[in-house]
This record gives sequence, structure tokens and C-alpha cells, in this order.
Amino acid sequence: MMLALVILFLLPIKLLCFVPESEFFSFGHSEGDALLFPNDDQHSDVQNISIVFKFFYEHHSKLFVNTNGLISFQKGISTYTSEAFPKIGERIVLAPFWTDINTSNCGSTCNIWYRESTKSTDIVKATSEVRKYFPIMKHFGANWTYVVTWESVPFFGASDVGINKRNTFQCVLISDTESTFVIYNYNKIEWTTGTASSGDADTGIGGTPAQVGFNMGDDFHFYSVKGSRTADIINLPNLSNVGYPGKFAFRVDLRDIEPAPPPEDPGKCYLKAADIAFVLDVSHSIDVSILRNLVTAVISHVPINEIECQIGMTSFSSKAKIEFYFDDYAEKADILTHVANITNMRGASNLEDALVDVKQLFTYSKGSRSYAKRFTFIFTDGLMVESNELKTAADSLKSLPNMEVVSVGVGASVKHDLLERIATDFTRVLYPSADMIWKYLQSSLAQPGCFSCTLEVEGEIHLLLEDSIHITRAEFKDGKQFIYTFIEALISFHLQNVDLSVDIFGNKIIEAIPLNDISGMKYKLGSVALVEYSGIDVNQSSLIKHVHNIGTLSSSNSFVIFITSGKSFDSHLIKKLQSVVINSKTNMITVGLGSDQDWYNLEDLASYGYFVFSGEDARLLARLMEKELKTTTCS
Ligand SMILES: *[C@@H]1O[C@H](CO)[C@@H](O)[C@H](O)[C@H]1NC(C)=O
Ligand SMILES: *[C@@H]1O[C@H](CO)[C@@H](O)[C@H](O)[C@H]1NC(C)=O
Ligand SMILES: *[C@@H]1O[C@H](CO)[C@@H](O)[C@H](O)[C@H]1NC(C)=O
Ligand SMILES: *[C@@H]1O[C@H](CO)[C@@H](O)[C@H](O)[C@H]1NC(C)=O
Ligand SMILES: *[C@@H]1O[C@H](CO)[C@@H](O)[C@H](O)[C@H]1NC(C)=O
Ligand SMILES: *[C@@H]1O[C@H](CO)[C@@H](O)[C@H](O)[C@H]1NC(C)=O
Repeated sequence: MMLALVILFLLPIKLLCFVPESEFFSFGHSEGDALLFPNDDQHSDVQNISIVFKFFYEHHSKLFVNTNGLISFQKGISTYTSEAFPKIGERIVLAPFWTDINTSNCGSTCNIWYRESTKSTDIVKATSEVRKYFPIMKHFGANWTYVVTWESVPFFGASDVGINKRNTFQCVLISDTESTFVIYNYNKIEWTTGTASSGDADTGIGGTPAQVGFNMGDDFHFYSVKGSRTADIINLPNLSNVGYPGKFAFRVDLRDIEPAPPPEDPGKCYLKAADIAFVLDVSHSIDVSILRNLVTAVISHVPINEIECQIGMTSFSSKAKIEFYFDDYAEKADILTHVANITNMRGASNLEDALVDVKQLFTYSKGSRSYAKRFTFIFTDGLMVESNELKTAADSLKSLPNMEVVSVGVGASVKHDLLERIATDFTRVLYPSADMIWKYLQSSLAQPGCFSCTLEVEGEIHLLLEDSIHITRAEFKDGKQFIYTFIEALISFHLQNVDLSVDIFGNKIIEAIPLNDISGMKYKLGSVALVEYSGIDVNQSSLIKHVHNIGTLSSSNSFVIFITSGKSFDSHLIKKLQSVVINSKTNMITVGLGSDQDWYNLEDLASYGYFVFSGEDARLLARLMEKELKTTTCS
């Protein structure tokens, strides 16, 4: 009894200095593995794989299993003496143990097994190992693996004694089609060198030992495991980068090989590589200090480095100017210093030339990266002549591979339709919030499994239609029509979870439709139709009280939309209304009603220049709401 207890107690703390074969991804005939024919210095036929395997920034759809401890992508490799990484040339390889292996004469005692696998046992094991060794990849879900196992392989030139020295190790390629990982497992490493590389025939030691790691074939994309090509490499089964002797884990699809973080380090979540061009309108209609602040706030969010984002910039007034290329500044601080120095230029807006300049930023000799996603953010009010040249320049920019063109409305008054036409599509017209722009970037660049971004639609819309002496009976009717068109458009955009209310403001407030979700809203529109035009002056204090209540009670995503001529709003009333919503996150939007609006008041009342609409813009406003009320949360 005592003895049993002692044994039970001791078992778990016995330290294994290798990965037991039972902890390998299973291998052999029973797993349906292919067996590489017995050979010296040979390799498998080309193996087409069913996914695109990302290695550094290259994409591979075939591989070769090489006897000498390598997996290669371009062609088979017969070189038996290992070479130091970086090895320049076309050797694009994974090297679990590159050395002189010879399976010619050992019959079934030595085997090299390989298989592509989407079997659930492999998928589950791959997913759990990646999540375990890369804590930041908490959402990772593998759906493809490739398992290559060198089982008990001897070295070239082994004597009768040396033939008993054997190595068993495994290389596992893992992918969710976006991110890729490689795991090296070492069970036993009893020799490091063949005799043709000056190793000893009895021990397989000495000479030029094995090289372990990854090599891209150029000067700087490589990873060499410490001890490679030295006698120390025989200790691999005792070593690890994940706190498990004999096991190494790497992420291999980024600019650099990313070894698993030390077990206590949560690791870093990278964004996909992106080259981002900013195009700034510095013409006379723009307040450049506000623009500088916005651009500075956006850039402050963005991680700027070789692996993730790079920034380039152009500006324009009557002339366009390249501010800086992607490779001009390596440090964010230098970019911000440059931005702080950008000033207003007198003159009109020559966006077409700026867009032509942007194409120059994206030439590879100027630091743009072939594998990076491309963004152009155009900050403008859109107040310019819409020439054929502009259309041509915008279309040509949008057609660049990998490019998303986003427009951001800035300034006191924004021409929506132009912003929409220069952007890739209407969902890429953003309003000037650094937070929103950053969320947009983050969700476009999230590495699957690393960040998880979810889309939710939620919020409140409060429509306030004016009934006063400042609009005619016919205009009041147009206002109602605007509301019908707007609500129909919202329903067609499937914004079911959004709440909406309709109130009429005149000498008193009439609550035509109380706050309710949009589904079923069609049937309630009758109550708007019933409200009669009165044409009496607006009661300012009841309007203020009403908007105050909305501001206090509404959710963080809420919009108050005034459908109005603007003439009932004096500067006192505008200030009052702004102050009652200021503490909440309620935004005010204005829609100009009638033929004789007061645009100054409409612009002053709206939270942003971008938030002023005309009576014809019901569908456009619905699109804006669709965009505003969808929130992307990344964690
Ligand atoms: C592998 O892919 C190549 C090119 O796509 C094709 O020519 C070849 O037949 C494929 N080989 C096998 C074994 O499927
Ligand atoms: C893996 O998942 C991705 C995205 O979820 C999918 O596009 C791909 O077809 C899947 N691949 C395999 C081999 O199942
Ligand atoms: C290695 O391969 C050659 C054939 O290329 C063979 O003659 C030799 O016996 C093999 N075995 C060993 C242990 O080197
Ligand atoms: C490595 O592990 C082996 C047993 O697998 C052990 O004999 C040897 O002493 C270990 N070496 C080091 C440096 O820990
Ligand atoms: C700021 O701009 C002025 C004029 O364009 C230029 O002379 C100066 O060198 C700039 N300063 C910095 C820090 O870029
Ligand atoms: C405006 O409405 C308030 C109630 O909110 C009322 O007390 C006040 O008498 C009204 N003023 C006018 C001029 O009708």
C-alpha cells in the first residue's frame, strides 16, 4: 500500500527529457501515411496540398518531403551536408533536422512517413497545441495539417556500431488557411552528422552537425535554432521554446518567424501587414488644425513597424504634394512631427492630382510591400468640381490590386455623393472619428484567431419633424414622405434590432410613434399620416426638454434627426440643444426641408459637417445609419 502510494506520487514528477512518441501526432501505416521509399539523399514526388500554405509572405500549394530532414517548397533537395541559415538561393525550407540521413539499408527499422490530414484527431490536437503555445491565438481553429515523421533514421556511412544510433523526430504543419504554424517534436537524437560531412562512423558525431530552423532563401528571412551546426544540437530533446523538452513551436506566416512566446508571456497579437496612404485636403474650406488632430489621433492607434503597418501621405489644395513615402519614416514619432507641420494652402481642391500621387506611393521601390494590404484614406469635404480627370484618377486607384479606398468627411459641410464616388463603395465612407477609423482598420486587418471581431447592430434613431410657420403645408407633407422613405430603406437594410421613434415638434411635441424596434414599423406609419399641419411657432422650451429626455434616456448609439427648414433655430436654441446632449453620446443630424432652408443653422446644429442632409437624401441617410449603428468589437 505504501509502495503504491509512493509510485503514484512519483510518476507525475518524473521529468521526461524528450517528447514521447505517444505525444507525437500519430504516424505509420495505421494512420494511412505514405512511406518514403528507402533511399539516400532523395525526396518524395511533388505533393500537391489542398490549401495555400503561407510561409513568410509566400504562398505554397505543393511541397517535397526530403530524406535529409527537410521539407522544401520549390524542388526536392539532395544536399547532405547542412549549410548555415540564412542560406541565400532558392532553398525555401522547413528544417526540423537537416543532416545526412540514409534509409537505404535499414529495412523496416527506419521509416519516413508523411500525410496531409484533416482528420478530427489531428485537427483537435493541432488546434489545442497552437492555442496552448500561443495564448493570444485563443480563437484559433486549425482545419488542415501535414505530418512528416522521421522514425528511427540512421546516418550515412554508419559502421556496424554506428547503425544503432537513430533519430526520431516529427514536423507538423498547421493552418486555418489564414495563419500557419509549425511544430517540431524531438523524441530521440542520438547522432548529428554523416561520415560524408566528417562525422564519426561509430558515433555519428563531429564534423558539420545538423542545421535546424527555417530558411526563405534571402538574406534576412530565416530562423536558426540555437546550437545548429554545433555539437550542442544533439540536445534538442532536452530543449524547447515552449517549456516542453523536445518541442518547438513557431508561427511562420508573418514577416518574421515568430517563435512561441515564453510560457509566462501572453504574446503579441499582430495585425496583418498594411500599407496605408493618407490623402489630406488642405484647401481653403478645411480647418487644418482640426484635420491634423484627427489624423494624429488615427495614427496614434496604428502599430507602425515592418510586420504590421506603414504610412505614407499626400496633401492637396490647388496643387498636390507628396508629404512622405512609406519608407521615409520608421518611427511613429517622426510621422507625427511631420503631420504637426502640415498647414493650410490657399486655393481650390485638386484631388485628382493627389490621387495620381498616391499611386506613386504604392510603387515597390518606395517601400510599399508586395504582400501588404493597401488602404487609401482620403480626408476631404468633397467640395470640388467633379471632373472626368477626378473620376479617372479615382477609378485607377481603386483598381490597384489589394486596394481599399476609404473617404472620410471632414469640414463644416460635406458633399456625401462625391465621397461615395471616390471610395471603393458606400460602406467605406466614414465620418471623422479616430475611434471609428481605427476600428475599421482593426477589423479589416485582424488576424483570424488572434483578434476576434464581431458585428452588432444596435442603437436608437429619433426622428423629429418640424411643424411651424417656417414651413408650408406641402413641405410638412414632404417631411412625412421623407420619414416613410427613410424607414422603408432601414427595413430593407435589415436593421431589426434598432429602435426608432417619430415626434412632431411645433408649439407642442406630438409623439407620433413611440420608441420601438423597426420590424413592424411599416404598420405604425399611419399614425404619422394622421398628424395635422398646424403652422404655429415652435415652442423652444418644450423642444429643449424633449431632446434633453432623449439624450438622458437613450443608449450610447443614438441619433436625433431634425427634419426642418432650420429657420426655427436661433443660435441660443442651437447652443441649448447641443448642451443637453453633450453628456450623452447622442449625435444630432439635420435634414433640410423645403426650398428655403437656413443651411447655416442646419450645419451649426449637426454634430458633424457630415451630418447635414437634404430632403432628397432619405436613402443616403438610411445608409449612414446602417453604417453608424453597426458596431465592430474586437478583442
Ligand atoms: C499537382 O499539381 C500540378 C499543377 O497544378 C498538376 O500538374 C499535377 O498533375 C498535380 N499532381 C498530382 C499528383 O495531383
Ligand atoms: C478552412 O477554413 C477556411 C475558412 O474558415 C475555409 O475557407 C477553408 O476551405 C477550410 N479548409 C479546409 C481544408 O477545410
Ligand atoms: C547509404 O546509401 C548507400 C546507397 O546510396 C548504401 O550503399 C549504403 O549502404 C547506405 N547505408 C548506410 C548506412 O550508409
Ligand atoms: C539530455 O537528456 C538526456 C536523456 O534524454 C540526458 O541523458 C542528458 O544528460 C540531458 N542533457 C542535458 C544537457 O540536460
Ligand atoms: C516644417 O515646414 C517648414 C515649411 O514647410 C519647413 O521649412 C520645416 O523644415 C518643417 N519642419 C519640420 C520639423 O518638418
Ligand atoms: C411651451 O411649452 C411649455 C411646456 O413644455 C409650456 O409650459 C409653455 O407655456 C409653452 N409656451 C408657449 C409660448 O406656448
